[in-house]
Amino acid sequence: MLPCHIAIIMDGNGRWARARKLPRVAGHRAGMKTLRTIVHHAINIGLKWLTLYAFSSENWSRPADEVQCLLSLLKLFIYHDLTKLHANNVRVHVIGNRSNLAKDIIALLHQAEMLTEKNTGLDLVVAFNYGSRNEIVRAVRKIAIDIISGKITGDDITDTLLASYLDTAKIPDPDLIIRTSGEMRLSNFLLWQAAYSEFSFVPCFWPDFSVSDFEETVASFYARERRFGNLKRSDSIREVAL
Ligand code: FPP
Repeated sequence: MLPCHIAIIMDGNGRWARARKLPRVAGHRAGMKTLRTIVHHAINIGLKWLTLYAFSSENWSRPADEVQCLLSLLKLFIYHDLTKLHANNVRVHVIGNRSNLAKDIIALLHQAEMLTEKNTGLDLVVAFNYGSRNEIVRAVRKIAIDIISGKITGDDITDTLLASYLDTAKIPDPDLIIRTSGEMRLSNFLLWQAAYSEFSFVPCFWPDFSVSDFEETVASFYARERRFGNLKRSDSIREVAL
């Protein structure tokens, strides 16, 4: 059985390019190819949820040509791949802050979600202009507005309520988070949602990440025992026996 939700931090495009004496944008273009390969593999194996960290709210501080390249790749992905994704029964979701995005990008993201909203196959979540702290701040602001308007009271605030105000309100928490390039941190990705996720840090750069790397990572996920704050199964059986 597959994990229900795999989320990926696609890291190392820049280093991949540097190692080949290429500009960083060449790394992102190569990363785009890997993205397509992994999405199609996810469709083929019947994965239910796949989240990809495509652009973080901190990425705006990169050189202008790199930011432009990432915005163009997003547009290209939607223009060129949306029909195919739709034909493959993929439902597209986008998480992240849309308020400071250009109108044409907002329209494209909306179009992708609308076109595919009734699909029942892979749920593909694109994290674009996404940062967890910003997502939590936006959620808290919406909660404050609902308290002021009397829709809810302070006593209604629980972890379930807060989760329902996040961009991921209708998305299950990730079972497995994969990060390529050997870096071992979350970089403001799904901080709330990762409370019980398993992590896999894969040494290769994202453009080199293959279907067999993906399969190996998923296989290692099964070797782990997820306890969600509970005891190991063998320990709880021993406790009951005592
Ligand atoms: C991190 O590598 C990767 C990104 C910031 C962007 C990921 C984007 C893609 C894979 C392609 C674009 C896809 C869409 C849909 C926009 P890095 O640049 O931080 O690499 P480095 O750490 O080696 O410098």
